[in-house]
Amino acid sequence: MDLSKHRIIIEGKTKIIYENPGDPNTVYMKFKDDITAGDGVKHDVIEGKALVDWKTNRDIFEFLNRKGIRTHYVESPAECVSLVKKLDFKINLEVVSRRVAAGSILKWGGIAEGTRFDPVITQFHYKDDPLHDPMLDDTYVEYIIKAKEGGEMFREMREINTEVFALLEAAFAAFTIQLLDFKLEYGLIGGVVTLIDEISGGSFRLWPYAKENPDLTKKNVLSELDPGARLDKDTYRQGESLDQVQSKFEQIAKITAGFKGL
Ligand code: C5P
Repeated sequence: MDLSKHRIIIEGKTKIIYENPGDPNTVYMKFKDDITAGDGVKHDVIEGKALVDWKTNRDIFEFLNRKGIRTHYVESPAECVSLVKKLDFKINLEVVSRRVAAGSILKWGGIAEGTRFDPVITQFHYKDDPLHDPMLDDTYVEYIIKAKEGGEMFREMREINTEVFALLEAAFAAFTIQLLDFKLEYGLIGGVVTLIDEISGGSFRLWPYAKENPDLTKKNVLSELDPGARLDKDTYRQGESLDQVQSKFEQIAKITAGFKGL
């Protein structure tokens, strides 16, 4: 599919959004081979990454649409291209949910790696690279939910995050993999809070089970999981080779291809 003659609406770090001349209510989302970390400070290009991310994103969004989640995703008409509903408004937040402590949460609060959160916890981060995506204060979020017009959108995003987490956690569990955390984004379509953006290898942490029947109800599940065999973008953040990173993303795409049967 040749999008080169279509007007570019916006180009981000990992995707380009093109106008769809045939339909003002949808846009094309083209995946790029770029990979970034550390708020865009670390940047590389991995040949073939766009294709695996596109596959993973397609299989996850088609799974979520089948399960009744309100998303912007329509279809994936060509390699590396998805058709999505056009937004009225992009909500400038990253909404992170966590089942198992890893990553940035270890740095603040002295939480041990592997600590299990039940229920899943959800945090709102203001999306801004130069400010390092600062987290919104929970009491402030509660205040705007109650007191500010439109504040109930925060509750809706939290609910959708929790629902999507449960769906994807169960889906990865079918492949003996624990979903530790993920980041989702939202926008308004027809005035309604809707899951947008992409969900691919860089959006979550995935650790395979360390044993056949792990006890995932423990307060700390580190011994039940195998972080050394992680399948996620931490491989890139931790400085492994780009081939290794691509191979992990390919493994993720193979797993999410199996979501068709779920
Ligand atoms: O780094 P941190 O532990 O806060 O990340 C939580 C989750 O959100 C991880 O799965 C990470 O991959 C994802 N994330 C993301 N984009 C960001 C920050 C975090 O997808 N800008």
